[in-house]
Amino acid sequence: MTLITDTVNRSADTEAPLLVTLAERWSPRGYDANAVIDDSTLTTVLEAARWAPSAANMQPARFIVTRRGSAGFTTIHDSLTGFNKAWADSASVLIANVADATMKPDQDNPWASYDLGQAVAHLSIQAQHEGIHTHQMGGFDAAALATAFGLGGKQVVVSVIALGMLADVATLSPEVLERESTPRTRKPLGELLLAND
Ligand SMILES: Cc1cc2nc3c(=O)[nH]c(=O)nc-3n(C[C@H](O)[C@H](O)[C@H](O)COP(=O)(O)O)c2cc1C
Repeated sequence: MTLITDTVNRSADTEAPLLVTLAERWSPRGYDANAVIDDSTLTTVLEAARWAPSAANMQPARFIVTRRGSAGFTTIHDSLTGFNKAWADSASVLIANVADATMKPDQDNPWASYDLGQAVAHLSIQAQHEGIHTHQMGGFDAAALATAFGLGGKQVVVSVIALGMLADVATLSPEVLERESTPRTRKPLGELLLAND
């Protein structure tokens, strides 16, 4: 494999033209450990999540937002598993994405995780538009986070997302650089279309 020398451009090789922001979004692991996301930009990114659609406008998405250097950031970082722990500490912000499935006392909202995912998608695209990269993670200890942040009822941490600015590629560890150099691939569009009448 040829190791990359530029992490800025990892645009998707699309089968049809996309919004540039969508095509340019990818999930880096090499973040600048000194970069800070200002509060106004972070608010804009979170606002994008707030305006995502949701079933019956129930708005089940909740976010535990932590900035690098805070106790909460350390708690989320400590909960990460596998290789996630090796790179995510350089992110500027870690967010635990929580689905609150409360619909009625005795009834779950079956779309809570779907709607949370959609809110996180909006968040990640707004972030990309603001020049911030994102990387979602499923590798974390959800029970540890629920305890640490006092979640209750029908609140479940579904994913964690890192937000940050790209590091200079020359500073990346060999392990991160190898992963960043893996070609971005997708199944052919035709394979996704179970019907296309
Ligand atoms: C729900 C979810 C969980 C993920 N979990 C991890 C993870 O634990 N560690 C990791 O490095 N990447 C994780 N990813 C990132 C995916 O591997 C990545 O989005 C996928 O390979 C496509 O690459 P791209 O985002 O650069 O297009 C996750 C993504 C999603 C949406």
